[in-house]
Amino acid sequence: MTFCTTFFLFGLLGLTIATVIPRADPITALSASQVAAFKPFSYYAAKAYCQPAAVLNKSCGINCDANTAFQPMAAGGDGSAIQFWYVGIDPSLKTVIVGHQGTDPNKIVPLLTDGGFFLDHLNQTLFPGLNSSIEVHNKFADEHAKTANQILSATRAALQKSNLTQVTLVGHSLGAALALLDSVFLPQFLPGIQFKTFGYGLPRVGNQAFADYVDANVQLSHVNNRQDFVPVIPLRTLGFVQPQGEKHIQDNLTWLDCPGNDNPDSRCSAGDVSSVSTGNLSNHDGPYDGVEMGGATCKNVTGTAGIATAAASTIHAGCGALFLLATAFSLLPLQLL
Ligand SMILES: *[C@@H]1O[C@H](CO)[C@@H](O)[C@H](O)[C@H]1NC(C)=O
Ligand SMILES: *[C@@H]1O[C@H](CO)[C@@H](O)[C@H](O)[C@H]1NC(C)=O
Ligand SMILES: *[C@@H]1O[C@H](CO)[C@@H](O)[C@H](O)[C@H]1NC(C)=O
Ligand SMILES: *[C@@H]1O[C@H](CO)[C@@H](O)[C@H](O)[C@H]1NC(C)=O
Ligand SMILES: *[C@@H]1O[C@H](CO)[C@@H](O)[C@H](O)[C@H]1NC(C)=O
Ligand SMILES: *[C@@H]1O[C@H](CO)[C@@H](O)[C@H](O)[C@H]1NC(C)=O
Ligand SMILES: *[C@@H]1O[C@H](CO)[C@@H](O)[C@H](O)[C@H]1NC(C)=O
Repeated sequence: MTFCTTFFLFGLLGLTIATVIPRADPITALSASQVAAFKPFSYYAAKAYCQPAAVLNKSCGINCDANTAFQPMAAGGDGSAIQFWYVGIDPSLKTVIVGHQGTDPNKIVPLLTDGGFFLDHLNQTLFPGLNSSIEVHNKFADEHAKTANQILSATRAALQKSNLTQVTLVGHSLGAALALLDSVFLPQFLPGIQFKTFGYGLPRVGNQAFADYVDANVQLSHVNNRQDFVPVIPLRTLGFVQPQGEKHIQDNLTWLDCPGNDNPDSRCSAGDVSSVSTGNLSNHDGPYDGVEMGGATCKNVTGTAGIATAAASTIHAGCGALFLLATAFSLLPLQLL
């Protein structure tokens, strides 16, 4: 019960601490063609839920068929202790693609709200020379470290084979967090390469210094669907901050550009999902302009549905009721914004 208790206390603490979020630039709508430009990357993010073998032989259903030019290079993970990942080449989009599998709503929420996580310094071997004030979610960092070097080698090989100079990182949920860590990690070892990152349902990954670093160095777009509350956890009161680049899908399905870090406007996630009663976890998997995440659309979902990460599976069964109660409490302070 330690997790539960710690977390519950954090939730209560949040009640007494109103966070100050600065207002930012105007919110603007994306044009139809701007929204459409996300679609290949949305399918690439969804593809990361499919079995590595199916990704490699291009038999993963709609998520493979949507990007016919794709040439798989490497794929791995087991979908439980290690999230699936893949690397390949898209000669038509002129980019190497690196995809990270996420996890389902019932697994990601405990990972972001139970008491077993904290902000930790980056591993200096994987992230040499970064400002020591940068801190990230320890479990995201642990998960990232499991495949970091394999993905670096595969990405380097794909760049050499294709002679391309662009890498695009994609992922949904936990996979978006891993893609974001990769977009800080990979550029250090691949000089002269351009990087772009597309995250879907991205949770808060690190502290203000991390968000500042991402804002200055990473070309990030992260799409939040309606009242999905994963993008607003872990709480800002615990020191977590979203980087810029939010695109927020409205109830009427238009996409708005939400500038700033955790834009508090009611048309953006931090303002829209102001309490647990306005959050809706069914929105986490999509649709993102018609694209569903979570493995439901992989041709063969055996082994991909109900993915647990090693970290996520540590949630105690007995936590249930207290967890929900504390989640309610911990989202309350958002109403004070
Ligand atoms: C592709 O790989 C999957 C998973 O191993 C297998 O079930 C399927 O038969 C393979 N398809 C082809 C066309 O090789
Ligand atoms: C940092 O990462 C390297 C390479 O993955 C690993 O060998 C090392 O044990 C890690 N250090 C810490 C303190 O976790
Ligand atoms: C690879 O790209 C470089 C410049 O980007 C170019 O000079 C070189 O000729 C290309 N090589 C091949 C084999 O296409
Ligand atoms: C590290 O970041 C802090 C604030 O986040 C800043 O004050 C400091 O100057 C930075 N140090 C270096 C060496 O960039
Ligand atoms: C959709 O909703 C947003 C506010 O969330 C509004 O600004 C926009 O005008 C609406 N668009 C349409 C086509 O109704
Ligand atoms: C949550 O979202 C789902 C999917 O859009 C919808 O069917 C359901 O009615 C929503 N629930 C609430 C309470 O709004
Ligand atoms: C899915 O894969 C399993 C083995 O992993 C196989 O037994 C099953 O027939 C496959 N189903 C489909 C629809 O391809």
